[in-house]
Amino acid sequence: MGIRANAVWAVLGLPFSLLSVFYYIYVYCCKEKLMLKDKVVFITGASSGLGAACAEAFYTAGCRLVLSGRNVEKLNLLKVRMEKSKEGTGFHSPAIVTMDLEDLPSIKEKVKEVLAAFGHVDILINNAGKSYRGVALHTKLEVDKMLMDVNYFAHVEVTRAILPQMVERKTGQIVAIGSVQSRIAIPHRTSYAASKHAMQAYFDVLRSEVAQYNIGVSVVNPYYIATNLSTNAVSADGSAYGKLDANTKAGLQPEYVASKVVSCVVNRTSELTVAPPHIDLAIALRAMSPWLFFKIMERRAKKEQREMNKDR
Ligand SMILES: NC(=O)c1ccc[n+]([C@@H]2O[C@H](COP(=O)([O-])OP(=O)(O)OC[C@H]3O[C@@H](n4cnc5c(N)ncnc54)[C@H](OP(=O)(O)O)[C@@H]3O)[C@@H](O)[C@H]2O)c1
Repeated sequence: MGIRANAVWAVLGLPFSLLSVFYYIYVYCCKEKLMLKDKVVFITGASSGLGAACAEAFYTAGCRLVLSGRNVEKLNLLKVRMEKSKEGTGFHSPAIVTMDLEDLPSIKEKVKEVLAAFGHVDILINNAGKSYRGVALHTKLEVDKMLMDVNYFAHVEVTRAILPQMVERKTGQIVAIGSVQSRIAIPHRTSYAASKHAMQAYFDVLRSEVAQYNIGVSVVNPYYIATNLSTNAVSADGSAYGKLDANTKAGLQPEYVASKVVSCVVNRTSELTVAPPHIDLAIALRAMSPWLFFKIMERRAKKEQREMNKDR
C-alpha cells in the first residue's frame, strides 16, 4: 500500500476510532441507566433498611417498582418521598402490595397482585428478613420455624410464583439477600444462620436450572448493615430483642450495599460478599481449616455467654 493510501486510512480511521472510544465510554458510564430504565422491580421488605435503600437506588435508575412489606404506612412514606424527589420528571409511581411472609399460604395470591401492578416482573429482590439473638438450648421451636419461614420458605414461595412469567418471557434477574452468615455461622444465631445457609444453597441450585431461560440469580451476602435488623430481631422465647447492637450500628451504610445490589443486577453477578477483608479471611478459614474456625467460635460463644450473664 502506498503512502497516500495509508494517509487516507489514517484520516478516515481516526474519527472512527474516536467515535468507538466515546461510544464505549458512554455505554460503560450509562450501562446502569440503559439496562434498568423501565424495568419492573419487585422488592420484599422495602419498608425499611436495605430494602428501602434498594427501592431508592432502582427508582433513581428509572425502574418501575412494586414495594412490599407489612408496614403499609412506612411503604407509603417511602413512595411519597421518592415521588417528590423526581416530581415532574416522568418517573413511574411505585405500586405497593402489603405482604406478611410468615403467612406462607397467602403468598401465591399476593404475588398475583404484584404481577398485576405492571403486567410482569423483570427483577425480583428477595430482601425481607428477620434476625435472631439467643441460646440454642433455650430457643422455642416456634421461633426456629418462624425464622425459616420468613428467611427461607417465603423467598422460595415468592420466587416460584414469580418465575413462570420470567421463563415464558425468557428474561429475568433474581436477587437473594443473604448475609455473611450464609457462609459462616456465628454463635447465638442458630436458626438465622441456618435460614441464610439454606437460602444460599437454594439459589445456587436454582441458578443452574434457570440459566437456560436467560434468567440470572445473584446471591448478595452483606456484612453488618446500619439498619434496625437487630432491634427487630426475635429472642429465644419469641419476644422482641429490641436492642441496636454495636456491630449493627457501626455497620455498612444501606445505600452502599444497595449500590452493590444494583451493580450485581446490571452485571449479572452470581455471588457477591459485601464485607471487609477479615470476613473473606474468616470464610476462607472455615473452608480450609474448619477446626481452627470452630475453636475461635467456641471462644466467642463463651465470651458472649459471660456478657449475657452479666447483663441479667
Ligand atoms: N442489617 C444487617 O446487619 C444485615 C446484615 C446482613 C444481611 N442482612 C439482611 O438484609 C435484609 C434486610 O434487612 P435490614 O437490615 O434492612 O433489616 P430491617 O430494617 O429490619 O428490614 C427488614 C425488612 O424485612 C421486612 N419483614 C420482616 N419480617 C417480615 C414479614 N413477616 N413479612 C414481610 N416482610 C417482613 C420488614 O418489613 P415490615 O416490618 O414492613 O414487614 C423490613 O422491611 C435481611 O434479609 C437481612 O437478613 C442484614
